[in-house]
Amino acid sequence: MSRARLQLEGLVRRHAGAARAAVQRFDLAVAAGELVALLGPSGCGKTTVLRMVAGLEPPDAGRIRIDGADVTALAPSERPVSLVFQNYALFPHLSVLDNVAFGLRASGQSAERAREQAHAALELVELDGVTDRATHALSGGQQQRVALARALALEPAVLLFDEPLSNLDEALRRQVREQIRTLQRRLGLTVLYVTHDQAEAMAVSDRVVVMNEGRVAQVGRPRELYEHPASPFVAGFMGEGRLIDAQVGDDGLLRIAGTLVVPSGRALAPGTVQVMVRPHGWRIEPASSRGLPARVLRSAYLGRGIETTVLCALGEVLVVSAGARRTYEIGAPASLTIDAGGAAVLG
Ligand SMILES: Nc1ncnc2c1ncn2[C@@H]1O[C@H](COP(=O)(O)OP(=O)(O)OP(=O)(O)O)[C@@H](O)[C@H]1O
Ligand SMILES: [Mg+2]
Repeated sequence: MSRARLQLEGLVRRHAGAARAAVQRFDLAVAAGELVALLGPSGCGKTTVLRMVAGLEPPDAGRIRIDGADVTALAPSERPVSLVFQNYALFPHLSVLDNVAFGLRASGQSAERAREQAHAALELVELDGVTDRATHALSGGQQQRVALARALALEPAVLLFDEPLSNLDEALRRQVREQIRTLQRRLGLTVLYVTHDQAEAMAVSDRVVVMNEGRVAQVGRPRELYEHPASPFVAGFMGEGRLIDAQVGDDGLLRIAGTLVVPSGRALAPGTVQVMVRPHGWRIEPASSRGLPARVLRSAYLGRGIETTVLCALGEVLVVSAGARRTYEIGAPASLTIDAGGAAVLG
């Protein structure tokens, strides 16, 4: 399997009759062997980007390069690219092996060579035990792995996934996504992976592109995006949290709601900034003179920790205390503080 670099340069796509472009000056460089996730709300243009890379839609402007070679004008079958869809698009009555061999035959391989390659691909996804079964007699997770094997068998330079897990239940989703990631790492595959699920994007990828209305909102490693979102949009999309105005003093410390003082983690000029505090960035304690006075509205034991909602000068705040065992009584007075590193400055 080859490793290849993928470059998208200034891609624009306006569908006929659409008021605005679905994709607007989209730039992205995916390194060889890297998995990059496109993450964003429904309609933000993720699938349109993938379809342009696959050659299923022509860009109105921009270039697509694979290992430096311009493939923008090539037909889908001429591109070293495979796309795995969410609905698998398998032939239900063909055997697993024939489904995987089909594309190889279509690309001109001999029947024998196609079968060999299909076998090898099915081994990669650990389905070599069911090669003769019709695909309609497989579980959803197995069907998705057949689709993956079919894409891998073509030995694409770039592999594209469009919401590959959305037809699977929760437990299977985790399992298949881990298989995809393991295989991607082992084979050094270059992958562009579309999802609207933030947790899935963070779990599978080296980097995440957060998209908003056809544009790149921010690109970064999962942790960078989560801890240092550039905008309220990215902060909100990467997970729950509270956006709060904070004052930066001459000492460079953040002051929140007048009483909370927290380090900002970087040099800031005095003035007002927006910070994001995640549910686990807060610390809750029985009422004391320290911190922000609060009153408990709800408190629940979740096994992995305690989730408590309090009312304070900032309004309702959700606090997740990982590892904690004791819930708070409703109405109990409490004190809120913010962990060092619990407040991320936006921008
Ligand atoms: N063939 C088409 N003709 C007209 N408009 C289209 C077409 N395909 C997509 N669009 C529009 O382009 C925009 C981007 O669509 P796209 O399918 O790329 O979004 P997406 O991010 O993949 O969304 P989802 O998460 O719902 O799959 C949307 O506003 C959509 O309605
Ligand atoms: Mg889509």
